[in-house]
Amino acid sequence: MSPADPNPDLHPGSVARGDWWKSAVVYQVYPRSFADSDGDGVGDLGGILDHLDYLELLGVDVVWLSPVYRSPMADNGYDISDYHDVDPLFGTLEQLDELIAQLHARDMKLVMDLVVNHTSSAHAWFVESRSSTDNPKRDWYWWRSPRPGHEPGSPGAEPTNWGSAFSGPAWTYDSRTGEYYLHVFTPHQPDLNWENPEVRHAIYAMMREWLDRGVDGFRMDVINVISKVVGPIGADGRVTLPDGVVGGERDTRWPGVVDTDVFADTPAFVLNGPRVHEFLQEMHREVFSGRPPGLLRVGETPGCPVEEAVLYTDPSRGELDMVFQFEHVDLDSGPKGKWDLRPMTMLRLKQSFGRWQDGLAEVGWNSLYLGNHDQPRCVSRFGSDAPEHREQSAKALATVLHLHRGTPYIYQGDELGMSNPGFTRLEQLRDVESLNHYATAVARGENPADVIRALAYKSRDNARVPMPWDASPGAGFTAGTPWLDIHPLSSSVNAAAQVDDPDSVFSHYRRLIALRHAEPCVAHGTFRMLLANHEQLYGFERSLDDTRLLVVANLSSAADVVPNLTELVAWSSAEPLIASVPGSSPAPTDPLAAWESRVLRLT
Ligand code: GLC
Repeated sequence: MSPADPNPDLHPGSVARGDWWKSAVVYQVYPRSFADSDGDGVGDLGGILDHLDYLELLGVDVVWLSPVYRSPMADNGYDISDYHDVDPLFGTLEQLDELIAQLHARDMKLVMDLVVNHTSSAHAWFVESRSSTDNPKRDWYWWRSPRPGHEPGSPGAEPTNWGSAFSGPAWTYDSRTGEYYLHVFTPHQPDLNWENPEVRHAIYAMMREWLDRGVDGFRMDVINVISKVVGPIGADGRVTLPDGVVGGERDTRWPGVVDTDVFADTPAFVLNGPRVHEFLQEMHREVFSGRPPGLLRVGETPGCPVEEAVLYTDPSRGELDMVFQFEHVDLDSGPKGKWDLRPMTMLRLKQSFGRWQDGLAEVGWNSLYLGNHDQPRCVSRFGSDAPEHREQSAKALATVLHLHRGTPYIYQGDELGMSNPGFTRLEQLRDVESLNHYATAVARGENPADVIRALAYKSRDNARVPMPWDASPGAGFTAGTPWLDIHPLSSSVNAAAQVDDPDSVFSHYRRLIALRHAEPCVAHGTFRMLLANHEQLYGFERSLDDTRLLVVANLSSAADVVPNLTELVAWSSAEPLIASVPGSSPAPTDPLAAWESRVLRLT
């Protein structure tokens, strides 16, 4: 059944619709790696301001800016020490105001990253919280006594047996007050205690300030981690946190973040916790309601099953507009987690995406993504980075992704077909998750070469190498020494080589974005999977009123794959809209070359 369009008279992109973001495309800027304007080797706001023409040419509607707030950079800015200021590494508040103004002048929006599951340990709130057991901010974080019968600070004395997502225990001992604090991520990222209403109201006040400043919404970092499973009040007057089972079943909703041979699997205690929906509804009331329409609320939600996503994004519940779910980026994780690699097969990807399309068909909305700053490059993971297939597979993946129902996100450089850079040495890596994993895995006896191989495939640094703007030695990214090496293909794979080439990956992305803007069926049509069991071809149909779109892609390196005629024959008179092979005008049932993709329309 076609979900009826509640606003058929309004242009699909009009903010007055409330759901303008369904026909929008979001572009993620990871500022550290986008463009460096002052030669210190690190990207900055000045660099972003220098490249707004590029974003406008691409045609994106929204820029999601990864954190630029003040930070000690233990996790590249996802450890915020001051929510109200810009880190000098990235520039100034005035430049951020300028960015907001310039994006608005170009009819684009700015969505800020909001990191409120945790702060930096250098944040004034935490500094005060750790100063004494009786200071007013003590309860703003999760402080707990050592486990009775254990030497405080020694292994096993942690208040619970939870592991951190970035290796080691989720608790760090602070000898000044003799207690531990909780951190789901690094020890530099203590978790805020959302049970405390003062914490929540301080966060809401900060969010309102950013909206007053002109930002258009938030991408909310690990927002489904804010509510922890708590037990009854303990002898110390604080709610208890329960132990889990060490060596037990891994929580398949967020595999691989915790070493379950040593720790209990933390996700069970922190994901989609008992009060998360209540907190988000409160946030909506306190921050967003009563403001003009158009503000965007995107929740990053690892380990979020589709049924839970319906709850987060049902418009009548007033929580989020869409989620960033992780199911498809966990498909190549084996039973031992993220670094236990198993092949990414197209069939499993199709099944997963299909399940999400069906699950949100009537109520709710999804973000569509294949890459971001936490994932390896999509071409190397879901496509092929072999020289003969890289460009075509980048186009095919983009075609399939952008034509699904949901809001597509482009991670900087994916529109150029960037691949993993091919790390071979630990010295090439900077990311805290990768470095911690290497140290832990090697200490546990794993072969260093195997660990490097897994990092070369999945390290977050794959996506963080500088954006290649041109063929110069600094790739047009920096005049100095880049914080992470320039990609080895930058002399050929770069923006300057692609923006004016109609056959480039960049131009293909432009066409896909333009199609979403022009054809309401892309944003609002129903989705029906075709060729469901085909191991190479990915096919589906979109339909809205009298318009039907057909998407067929060969997501494999096999040549001349012939589509199953019975499912596609009705399309023989369809008009080709976007073809990935330059100059071709294929019929739906023509054989598809390796990584060829087609979009056709039947009216
Ligand atoms: C999110 C961010 C990631 C960060 C983590 C902790 O997953 O995307 O980069 O490391 O949260 O803030």
